[in-house]
Amino acid sequence: MIKSILIRILSLLFIGLIFLACQKEKKIPIKMPATDLSGENMIPKPLKIIPTNNGFALDKYTAIYTSKETTGFAEIGQFLADKIKFKTNLEIPVNEEGIDSIERVIYINQSDSVALNTPESYQLYINKDSVILNSNTAEGAFRGIQTLRQLIPFNSNDTLAKHQIWVVPTGKIIDKPNFEYRGSMLDVARHFFSVSDVKKYIDLLAYYKINILHLHLSDDQGWRIEIKSWPKLTTIGGSTEVGGASGGFYTQKEYSEIVAYAAERYITIIPEIDMPGHTNAASVSYPFLNGNGKKLKLYEGTRVGFSTFNTKKDTTYKFIDDVVNEISALTPGPYFHIGGDESHVTKKADYKYFVNRVEKIIRKHGKKMIGWDDIAVADIDSTSIAQFWRSEKNAKKAVKKGMKVIISIAQKAYLDMKYDSLSKHGLNWAGHIPVDTAYIWTPDNYIEIPKESILGIEAPLWSETISDINELEYLAFPRIIGYSELSWSTEENRNWDSYKKRLANHAPFLDMMDVKYYPSTLIDWKKSKFTYSSIKKD
Ligand code: ACM
Repeated sequence: MIKSILIRILSLLFIGLIFLACQKEKKIPIKMPATDLSGENMIPKPLKIIPTNNGFALDKYTAIYTSKETTGFAEIGQFLADKIKFKTNLEIPVNEEGIDSIERVIYINQSDSVALNTPESYQLYINKDSVILNSNTAEGAFRGIQTLRQLIPFNSNDTLAKHQIWVVPTGKIIDKPNFEYRGSMLDVARHFFSVSDVKKYIDLLAYYKINILHLHLSDDQGWRIEIKSWPKLTTIGGSTEVGGASGGFYTQKEYSEIVAYAAERYITIIPEIDMPGHTNAASVSYPFLNGNGKKLKLYEGTRVGFSTFNTKKDTTYKFIDDVVNEISALTPGPYFHIGGDESHVTKKADYKYFVNRVEKIIRKHGKKMIGWDDIAVADIDSTSIAQFWRSEKNAKKAVKKGMKVIISIAQKAYLDMKYDSLSKHGLNWAGHIPVDTAYIWTPDNYIEIPKESILGIEAPLWSETISDINELEYLAFPRIIGYSELSWSTEENRNWDSYKKRLANHAPFLDMMDVKYYPSTLIDWKKSKFTYSSIKKD
């Protein structure tokens, strides 16, 4: 304890000395223009913003320092430096001591302040000569640097000094999330998406403080994760996808690479193995699993509800135990999703028996079970979680059982619904979801369940109609950005008119990241000279 206080004092002294050194050497002070923090482009909107109407000059004389005694802070400092380099081409040193030319610092500080009362809380103090980011945990620091990234302008000001300066507006931001669970789901089963596609999606989610990526890893059309004890799942079950292309799957090494990449961005991966329905690909691979009595063949269409596991055989549960064991061992997050939706050809009593028995397997492997709201009909434990996508009755049943609910209501939060009748991709069974409809609703009280029962919000992206990253981005962006605000920002801080102006200002970021977003005419998109290729060439 005393040691850590001493280290803290020494590091603050060290920063103080840097300041003094800078003051001595400072040549011509830069006269910063007044900029207004409240008028900026932050999504999700922070809890409190207090502008002080001055500017911090991000330039080649800026350095990043971090708390060193807490795991993760130095890496977050480097992450910020890498993102600043990508956006501005500035090389900002991280935790480098003895650089004479430094005039300004960004300090990412581990703080035990009681005001930081959730793991993701942070305070950002932007002053004329320093930016101080306080957070209790590395996770909070990571969320905070996303805010700072959004405050750095795309264009430098080249008239304030002889060198380029990116003017960051000064002020104070106090922030924390409204919901602890803020997710998106990606269906890699109907169409397979490569590791690099998933990583790109993770990078984009992280920028918007989303902290969950749920991967729908199996369905009738494909099984997408290597299971060493049941190899035909991928050699046979992974060989197809909707439309007849050759599918694919993640090796365990690749899946672990995704999990690690997400963890570096403080995103938890939730694996889903959908069962007892949506299991054709598994049953074709191992026919003893099949419970619908029909002849099995690989399936490349988009119908649902025709497959089921045999819920009566012990070998089915032995198989599930192996699968859950192997995937859980690769997944550090607390959750395992068992699907459980649309099991139309499983008898009701068999379905309940199955869900109860699988829940025990999930718990045996140290995970909390999540299932689509259909699972609420079974006699399950209050620690399991229901994902409310369709049935209000089931969602309320889950709450009665003491379970938490994730809000993913299809009419509002399904990323795979078309924007309108002219949408190039998407389905429409839950209606059209234009960008304003996606944003203007209140997940906190969409149905009458107490807010304490809502774990958070997740926007699922089913992939029947999309087969590559561009098509994925067309459906996900910009709507997922709105869901980030719906899950992070409080109801009082959400407002469509403000949001749509801020969203318009995100076009340069999306262009820079080469995101093929749907250019909704509801938004007056800001034009930008940036493209991904122009930045990459630098
Ligand atoms: C679902 O959309 N079948 C959960």
